[in-house]
Amino acid sequence: MKFLVDQQVEDIELPENLKLNTFLQEFHSDCPHPECNFGFYGFAFGQSPFPVPKMIQDALIKNADKGAYAAVPGIPELRNAISKYNKHYFELDVDPQRIYVGPGTKELIFNLLEILHGTVILPTPAWLGYLPQIRFLKKNYHMLPTRANKKISPSDLRKLALRLHDRQKILILNNPNNPTGLLYDKLELEEIADVCREQSIAVISDEIYAQTTYDFSKFVSMGKIYPEGTFVTNGLSKSHAAGGYRLGYVIFPQHAVDLKTQFKKILATEYTAVSTPIQHAAVPGFEISNEMEEYFEITRNIHKIMGEYTYNALSEIEEVKVTKPEATFYLLADFNSFATELQTAKITTSQRLSESLIVHPYHTAIVGGDSLVLERTDYSARIAFVDYNGAKVYENYQNQKPKTYSDRIEFAKNNAPKIVAGIKMISKFFDLLKKDTANKITQKKDSLSIPG
Ligand SMILES: Cc1ncc(COP(=O)(O)O)c(C=O)c1O
Repeated sequence: MKFLVDQQVEDIELPENLKLNTFLQEFHSDCPHPECNFGFYGFAFGQSPFPVPKMIQDALIKNADKGAYAAVPGIPELRNAISKYNKHYFELDVDPQRIYVGPGTKELIFNLLEILHGTVILPTPAWLGYLPQIRFLKKNYHMLPTRANKKISPSDLRKLALRLHDRQKILILNNPNNPTGLLYDKLELEEIADVCREQSIAVISDEIYAQTTYDFSKFVSMGKIYPEGTFVTNGLSKSHAAGGYRLGYVIFPQHAVDLKTQFKKILATEYTAVSTPIQHAAVPGFEISNEMEEYFEITRNIHKIMGEYTYNALSEIEEVKVTKPEATFYLLADFNSFATELQTAKITTSQRLSESLIVHPYHTAIVGGDSLVLERTDYSARIAFVDYNGAKVYENYQNQKPKTYSDRIEFAKNNAPKIVAGIKMISKFFDLLKKDTANKITQKKDSLSIPG
């Protein structure tokens, strides 16, 4: 039998993360050069390299016998722990009743987009996960390109909202931000919140990277600034290096009682509840303990060291603009100053740039601008700095904490040789590109000067 696929699904583009996998398999083909056996320099995948905290692993083993379905919004122990976690780390006073647990924040964001009426405002560049969901749900949406500082401009937000005639709009705020690694400060959030109040904009504040903020005291949750209009999402995936556990949560605004009932309906219809053993395993991950505190501190410090190294090394390539990460394990590198050279080399889109970097001799995987909801011709790329052995580096950090700037550079060089080598490859690529273009221009001039 030949199965027919529903037209609605056929019309959906392949999500970018799947595209990325296919792309890497296709282009990073079997290289005949033995020196390339190492695979590739992986700046593309956004996954924490560290081991899942031991307490979580132990709790998972201990709760393997929990075969019963859990309550739709999550088991009470977990909702209580998440409530205390939010109070302790993010100064959010949240009744456990306002917390819903789901199989990852990606699913919960999708569920929120399902129940919330209104046009979606998507600031760009953006994480590659949002747009396919918005399209799948056939929601109206508008991009909100950020300015040179790569942050939402409140006045641009107001201008856009004024053009939209829905009674309610939805802003997707991702703070700290993937792909830029940037963090919004309190004042910036207040200015955005003012516009949201004035223009009836509900905010989905994706704060999945909050715990990775290098100087943790600097993180401010939008849930604190705009409590009446913000849905905060967070989970295990990045801060606890447990993306594969598939566990996230959403905090509902204080007075959204009706909405919670609707939300429960959706969760019950779509997935009943998150796996019960996984929920039990997550409890110690959100409880306040010295072990978790140490884990968060060490992992965020290592992200900071790798971020600092990557930022400095990429900034040394002439004319490349790089965002300076304050959280996450990403930064945005802007290669647009090479636009002329790239076009001369027939690298006309960001997709072509990613392709040119993954093949021999570079073997370097990046996420191009078209996967970050930028124009196809925008030569910006997301660079993830996690290509190292997380377990080993964690141990090395515990044994000898780098103190000074030069200690940190040394630490990055010793512990993340693939990051070091990969950046050299990016540098080499642009170096050769420039030389090639210069040669072509000279050749053209020479050939023009030959009579006849
Ligand atoms: C900005 C952002 N939001 C959400 C997610 C998805 O998180 P989860 O594993 O909780 O679905 C990711 C994962 O890459 C992300 O980068």
